Amino acid sequence: MDLNLKVNENGDMIIGNVDVNEIADLYGTPLYVIDEERIRNNYKRVFNAFTKYHEKFRVFYACKANTNLAVMRILEDEGSSIDAVSTGEVYTSLKTGFTPERILFTGNNVKDDELKFVDEQNVLINLDSISQLERLAKIVNPENYKISFRVNPMVGAGHHEYCITGGIMSKFGIKEEEASNIYKKAIKLGFKPIGMHSHIGSGILEPEPFKLATKALLDIAGNVASDVDIDFEFLDLGGGLGVPYTPEEKLLDIDKFAEEITGIFKSKIKEHGLGNPYLYIEPGRYLVGDASILLTRVNTIKNSYRRFVGVDTGFNTLLRPVMYGSYHHIVVANKVNDEEVEKVDVAGNVCESGDLFARDRILPKIEEGDLLAILNAGAYSFSMASQYNSRPRPAEILVNNGDIEVIREKETYEDLFNKQIVPKRLQK
Ligand code: LLP
Repeated sequence: MDLNLKVNENGDMIIGNVDVNEIADLYGTPLYVIDEERIRNNYKRVFNAFTKYHEKFRVFYACKANTNLAVMRILEDEGSSIDAVSTGEVYTSLKTGFTPERILFTGNNVKDDELKFVDEQNVLINLDSISQLERLAKIVNPENYKISFRVNPMVGAGHHEYCITGGIMSKFGIKEEEASNIYKKAIKLGFKPIGMHSHIGSGILEPEPFKLATKALLDIAGNVASDVDIDFEFLDLGGGLGVPYTPEEKLLDIDKFAEEITGIFKSKIKEHGLGNPYLYIEPGRYLVGDASILLTRVNTIKNSYRRFVGVDTGFNTLLRPVMYGSYHHIVVANKVNDEEVEKVDVAGNVCESGDLFARDRILPKIEEGDLLAILNAGAYSFSMASQYNSRPRPAEILVNNGDIEVIREKETYEDLFNKQIVPKRLQK
């Protein structure tokens, strides 16, 4: 099994060398627990794999996966750069110590105020439409102003149709046929395009779509370079590298993956005479996905038409199972080695029928009071959490080789009213 699951001799789950039962007792549930060492190792693994084959390489952490300030600090410390998709992410990145040249802004349907904000922070803008280019030309002085464009490589892949970002149904990127024209137009306006970007989707465990996309992106860049006078400083392959969520899925062989992708990259660079550009990638999930768990306690066992294991959180804290039908492995943290004997539905506490973490999941015999750990809750989990049903969001804990630190306090009831104003005439 390639899932990141560690157990001690008593059959209790551990993370960052701490028994998760101990963490739950200390801080209560629901609770996110993040393993610092795992994030650092994930970063090093991908960085070392690629730089072994291509020195001019940079990792841009897609921080939409997890914008906790401590997580951002860890990745800044490792040397990562940032893929930011909103002004809020640009702001967060700057606040956590990323210098502007370590941030790339790739927005979609970006308004003028946002372009202006990103420009004022001296962050490079990766444009996604002709509209954005024309509007940016009015906001900044285009003379020698560096930009990049996102293209649609007509390759798409992902764990769910909502997470496929290339191909004819995608709202992202510039059409291949329009690529040369938009670069021409940009240069005519005075801009200095220095890069090209694509991102095909998210949660991809097979190398094939990435290989196709690498070829496609490099061919588009080659065509553009033959039509306009341009020297690409970087070509950005986007993110999308998956992690195993089920016990059957296998970890991506990152070394082989890097060898194959850099191989295609280099041969295409040569074929098209593209010089010596940087290769960028933008992993989000790969860096943080398997570094975190969500702890939740069983409070109710209900034998209805189905056997429901009721827990103390719901899709307000982890939306992925409901939004994408995503599988998240669940372990009974105080009985990890017990035999799996019963088929249950693990149900959340939100007042919606769809609020289930799992259907027909085979688990050890569960009793009220047991602690469940929902694995792979590091990416798109807290960052997609809400206060739905008026439930304050949970705390986040960082563990690191035996140390335990609170990196986000649990919200309070008062936090539910944050920024709300009751007009005087309605006050009591
Ligand atoms: N670059 C761009 C431009 C992106 O839009 C994304 C993700 C990434 C990089 C990073 O993708 P990753 O390496 O994490 O797969 N909420 C969904 C995932 C949405 C991803 C959106 N864009 C989920 O929970 O699976």
